[in-house]
Amino acid sequence: MLKAYERKEILGTMELKVEGGVGAIKTLLVSYQNHRLGIGRKLMHEAEQITKRNNGHKLFLTTGKNWDALHFYKALGFEQTGVQKNHYFDVDFVEMSKFI
Ligand SMILES: CC(C)(COP(=O)(O)OP(=O)(O)OC[C@H]1O[C@@H](n2cnc3c(N)ncnc32)[C@H](O)[C@@H]1OP(=O)(O)O)[C@@H](O)C(=O)NCCC(=O)NCCS
Repeated sequence: MLKAYERKEILGTMELKVEGGVGAIKTLLVSYQNHRLGIGRKLMHEAEQITKRNNGHKLFLTTGKNWDALHFYKALGFEQTGVQKNHYFDVDFVEMSKFI
């Protein structure tokens, strides 16, 4: 679990598990009032460093096909590598990967 802090306040969190060379990001959340300040980017950078240190070759996650977060992942160099039809919340999800 990664946490982004300012003083004692948690601004963002991420769950990462590195397994079989893949850094799988299970959850990522930045508090709404702190969006677009680069906090998500910093958490992702840290996830990439941790995955590399553990001999990983890619970051992987899933997100809603029409969610705003998709723009964030694309901006950070992720590409779509799969589709999960009718997945969580009864909507299509996409698999996003970044080869590192
Ligand atoms: C997705 C999320 C984690 C992004 O975190 P963030 O700290 O706001 O993102 P950053 O400020 O690091 O953004 C980095 C870049 O991603 C892109 N980006 C981020 N949010 C974006 C949005 N809503 N629309 C378009 N591009 C976006 C931009 O290119 C941005 O760079 P810029 O601000 O210099 O233009 C955050 O919006 C969030 O917590 N959303 C709600 C929960 C969620 O959807 N989590 C992911 C579920 S899979």
